Amino acid sequence: MGTEDPRIEELRRRREASRLGGGVKAIEKQHERGKLTARERIDLLVDDGTFEEMDPFKVHRCRDFGMDGVHVPGDGVVTGLGRIDGRVVAVFAQDFTVFGGSLSGANAEKVVKLMDTALKIGCPVIGLNDSGGARIQEGVVSLGGYADIFLRNTLASGVIPQLSAILGPCAGGAVYSPAITDFIVMAEGTSYMYVTGPGVTKTVTHEEVSHEELGGASVHSEKSGVAHFRAPDEAAAMATLKRLLSYVPSNNTEDPPRGRGSDDPQRMDERLNEIVPADPNRPYDIREVIRLIVDDGDFLEVHEHFAGNLVVGFAHLGGRSVGVIANQPQVLAGCLDVNASVKGARFVRFCDAFNIPLVTFEDVPGFLPGTDQEWNGIIRNGAKLLYAYCEATVPKLTVITRKAYGGAYDVMSSKHIRGDWNVAWPSAEVAVMGAKGAVEVIFRKEIQAADDPAAVQAAKEAEYKERFANPWVAAERGYLDDVIEPKETRPRLIAALGLLATKRDTNPPKKHGNIPL
Ligand code: HXC
Repeated sequence: MGTEDPRIEELRRRREASRLGGGVKAIEKQHERGKLTARERIDLLVDDGTFEEMDPFKVHRCRDFGMDGVHVPGDGVVTGLGRIDGRVVAVFAQDFTVFGGSLSGANAEKVVKLMDTALKIGCPVIGLNDSGGARIQEGVVSLGGYADIFLRNTLASGVIPQLSAILGPCAGGAVYSPAITDFIVMAEGTSYMYVTGPGVTKTVTHEEVSHEELGGASVHSEKSGVAHFRAPDEAAAMATLKRLLSYVPSNNTEDPPRGRGSDDPQRMDERLNEIVPADPNRPYDIREVIRLIVDDGDFLEVHEHFAGNLVVGFAHLGGRSVGVIANQPQVLAGCLDVNASVKGARFVRFCDAFNIPLVTFEDVPGFLPGTDQEWNGIIRNGAKLLYAYCEATVPKLTVITRKAYGGAYDVMSSKHIRGDWNVAWPSAEVAVMGAKGAVEVIFRKEIQAADDPAAVQAAKEAEYKERFANPWVAAERGYLDDVIEPKETRPRLIAALGLLATKRDTNPPKKHGNIPL
């Protein structure tokens, strides 16, 4: 046996040091915190043996605060290309065992190189975030590094999908890169996001608040809407990212991947014919409608715990990926409010950017009234959803299941704003408003002057319902392409999606529009 080449030994030694990151003790501490290491996370995420690491030997160049003596090859972030379900992805994973995963100049250069590569080859970028934010010892160099990443996030937006998992603390600058990406998933109990942590919060506002209360997974998935998904643990977070990718193309020039289900496209479910209650004021679960229609009942809900009055998410129909937007009669009677409008608008824009057709299920009594909504800008926020639907050029298919009242009728992918295939169930009510409200406005004087106001009101309401609480006026005008039996919805949607697959539509050339942000 000959002597081993010392240069090869050096390579092995350096690679091992890079693999160990902050060292055995730091890894044990990471596990004690209930967290995985950067490399363990990547192993869970990508197909076995596909990860090609970049820059494992890169080190920081900081000389202040004794940093010139402490170098860990890789410098606290693992970057590289791999495959998920055979498709190429770019992944960076911050390594909390090295200076708390904090972002140094060198560390940022690695992420920037990865993002530039992803843009060139047209593949998604997935960030696994676990970081104390800007590396304090590096000062403005670290801030510059963040800004370099924010710029890439913004330029890549709408070109390649960008997904973020939050798997530890994310403070300061560490939240803004994920915030620009398309989707955020947070691991419950171990991840936090805030611009300023509990300590600074206490100093400035005198509020005593825990990490979890200020920026845990529940807060951001229910109250702020910052997180689109939350997962019980890190493995589930990785599974969510993989499932999400199965609906989206690798870049904006490709079509989404086909679903692998075997559900019969002609399948009709009799339950749909009975799902809408006869009483228009009784709720039903729109999620049930969606599940009965889409392939294998498989629906990946986005923002499941936020603004429940609008349900959005991904599904396949006849193997084609679709973005579903649906009013939920079970919450606020399905009214559109500030949060639902913003949630819907962002989802519609993502789907439009990535060639994913929109399927809208509509049962909406209107925008939510009240000072809370008006003072919080339901006008400018509702306008976001309207704008998003108007500018979208992907195939737009709309099924009115019951109420399509007022401005909300226009907003929810109506024919007038370039809906491609608009149909209604016989239970549809397409009108300016409900019978009671309408009659009180247009027959107020008549009702007040009557000997029996209640009887006149009831008679006028009956007349109004007879005239307007149906799909026929809209169908006679051509505002609906057809009125269909509810059970036919699946085969008809699948047929329409197939016919619309080659749809091409454009907006006037411009630098960019001015969505009412
Ligand atoms: C350098 C850091 C660091 C940082 C943590 N560490 N954050 N090193 N820069 N920002 C180091 C710690 O010194 C420690 O090193 C190791 O990482 C682990 O940290 P711990 O504090 O022991 O862990 P834990 O108790 O879990 O607390 C994690 C934490 C806390 C909540 C993230 O470390 C923390 O509050 N860090 C500072 C957060 C912060 O204020 N960042 C700056 C944000 S401003 P040793 O050697 O002891 O193991 C910002 C501006 C950007 O980001 C603006 C752009 C728009």
